[in-house]
Amino acid sequence: MKILVTGGAGYIGSHTCVALLEAGHEVIVADNLSNSKIEALDKIKQITNKEVVFYQVDVTNESEVESIFNNHKIDGVIHFAGYKAVGESVEKPISYYYNNVVSTLVLSNACLKYGVQRFVFSSSATVYGDNKVPFVETMDLLPTTNPYGETKAMSERILTDIVKANPSFSVALLRYFNPVGAHKSGLIGEAPNGIPNNLMPYVTQVAKGKLDKLRVFGNDYPTPDGTGVRDYIHVVDLAEGHVAALNDLTTGVKVFNLGTGKGTSVLELIHAFEKANEIKVPYEIVDRRAGDIASFYADTQKAEKELGWKAKLDVIDMCKDAWHFERNQ
Ligand code: NAD
Ligand code: UFG
Repeated sequence: MKILVTGGAGYIGSHTCVALLEAGHEVIVADNLSNSKIEALDKIKQITNKEVVFYQVDVTNESEVESIFNNHKIDGVIHFAGYKAVGESVEKPISYYYNNVVSTLVLSNACLKYGVQRFVFSSSATVYGDNKVPFVETMDLLPTTNPYGETKAMSERILTDIVKANPSFSVALLRYFNPVGAHKSGLIGEAPNGIPNNLMPYVTQVAKGKLDKLRVFGNDYPTPDGTGVRDYIHVVDLAEGHVAALNDLTTGVKVFNLGTGKGTSVLELIHAFEKANEIKVPYEIVDRRAGDIASFYADTQKAEKELGWKAKLDVIDMCKDAWHFERNQ
């Protein structure tokens, strides 16, 4: 199939381009490079020996998006493009609602206009809010505490309504848990701008000596060691989940958790990283971070049963590959 990948130069998008090319699909990337570098596309070529077609466009721009649909007979869209920093979304709600919601509207509208029937959307476990763990796809979505989360819940509802009105359009809503790690080549990975917000890139930068020490946000949660528990998923497994979801799309809306089903605490992740890479990660315990919840992880049965997809890589693989990528920077 010929797949339009928005945000394909970014972290998850670049790994998914690799997975799509390796599965024999053709890839067109649309990215405005607001949070990525064009070099990612060269790296994709080095890994796969295949080229992607690239458009440097803003996917909220209707005429730029439609010109891509005019130039290519597209079979499906995977929509990664968006802003993703939770804290920044509180400071800049308009840019988050605009970028994340308008891009979904513009792309789905172009799909309907050009007869493209498959749409895969990057959602997030954040839409479950404070539900009971493990999070299951059938749960009601609870209000999230930030505009970023609302843009994901809103986009999910918009796409669901579009399918109701256009039964030949099919959508997969993929709720990612905590993507970490990098391609085993060490060529592509997560390279956040400035000081990282997320745990794994912070850990790798501390290990490298770029940052002084890790701050562990709270050790008084109701979890086995008191630190926050998350379902970390290797980005290569996550990328393969997209190929499986795309192949499965026929009609209607399908919702899938993409996680491992296994919870790992902050201290467990630090110790796994130290063991996997034989390097110390200095840390100190500080106060809880505002807005964090104690623990969440996925129920993964639906994706296993319906997509035949299951995460294969473990936390040690995630730590090794994240470190390999960081050392190459
Ligand atoms: P990323 O920032 O690395 O990638 C996003 C890409 O989209 C970047 O290359 C950026 O330049 C591009 N982009 C942003 N706005 C655009 C626009 N208007 N037009 C064209 N390109 C635009 O982020 P990522 O971690 O790869 O995340 C991809 C998607 O997955 C996002 O929608 C994000 O919200 C979602 N998600 C990420 C996580 C995570 O922890 N990384 C978790 C859950 C969901
Ligand atoms: N943490 C620290 N120190 C740090 C960074 C994080 O102790 O410097 C802790 C957090 O308190 C939390 C855990 O590590 O317990 C994971 O935190 P992350 O910031 O890496 O990830 P979150 O679970 O907070 O959020 C991430 C994305 C969200 C997304 C969510 C679910 O940032 O956008 O996963 O997919 F919604």
